[in-house]
Amino acid sequence: MTDLAVKLAGLSLRNPTLLASGILDETGGSLLRVFKSGAGAVVSKSICLLPRDGYKNPTIVELENGMINAMGLPNPGIEEYVAEVAKAVKAGAILVGSAFGKDEQEYASVAKEFEKHGAAAVELNLSCPHAKGLGLDIAQSAGAVEGFTRAVKGVVKIPVMPKLSPNVTNVANLGLAAERGGADAIVAINTVKAIAISTELRMPILSNKYGGLSGPAIKPIGLRCVYDLYAAVDIPIIGVGGVTTGLDAVEYFMAGASAVQIGTALRTRGYSAFRLICKEIQQFMEKEGFKTIGEMVGLAHE
Ligand code: FUM
Repeated sequence: MTDLAVKLAGLSLRNPTLLASGILDETGGSLLRVFKSGAGAVVSKSICLLPRDGYKNPTIVELENGMINAMGLPNPGIEEYVAEVAKAVKAGAILVGSAFGKDEQEYASVAKEFEKHGAAAVELNLSCPHAKGLGLDIAQSAGAVEGFTRAVKGVVKIPVMPKLSPNVTNVANLGLAAERGGADAIVAINTVKAIAISTELRMPILSNKYGGLSGPAIKPIGLRCVYDLYAAVDIPIIGVGGVTTGLDAVEYFMAGASAVQIGTALRTRGYSAFRLICKEIQQFMEKEGFKTIGEMVGLAHE
């Protein structure tokens, strides 16, 4: 009998698939719908202290093997967003709040509000590839990753999970910094900094010019980061980047992830992505004789 349940960083999940931040996670209702569709947990939109407008359109470019987005971290601010968190949590969803901000205090305040309204954990978005003064400036500094993580750990009891960027020279060093700051788990990776050009207009397509590439195109990069992190840190890793099928998830487990997040795959597989991916993981486990997810974690290192 196979068992898909996982325990990581103090969370007990019915299966190892989580909704990634920024995908169908605007409202309590949509988060709940994804949870009811089979996700083990759902990660909210990235939220900061005060309301924030995003970038002008175009904000998304669809590619054959993924997509590039630069939304600009639009959100209504934590004070308004907690009503959505409470709605999803009260109806039974396991929700991870995604927090960002301009300084340690802002991350800490947002995380505290998520905790107060029932979030099971908080993910720190330290890695948006294009928001000026926010994501990449933090993601590329081990001191900032450690400091922001420590600041949040100092004010919440729920697990704290920094989300790291692939747009760095040595992701393992950033993972070690998160671990020193007290992180309970690491989420890897955020999107890969990218650009798309309109040949007709002879200019970048996105209004922000730069965006973040997600989807199948970045799976090998996500796997490499998880592989390097697993060799460096002792805390669990949640793998993100191009998970579309159960076998993609198994690759992440073998690289060292204890769970995976799913985002761009919802474009092609819809809400049923979670159930389908779990079924495919289970089929692989039955065929290969694995009883638990844990038995597969890190196998590619042996
Ligand atoms: O543009 C955005 O809102 C993207 C955020 C992120 O990748 O973290």
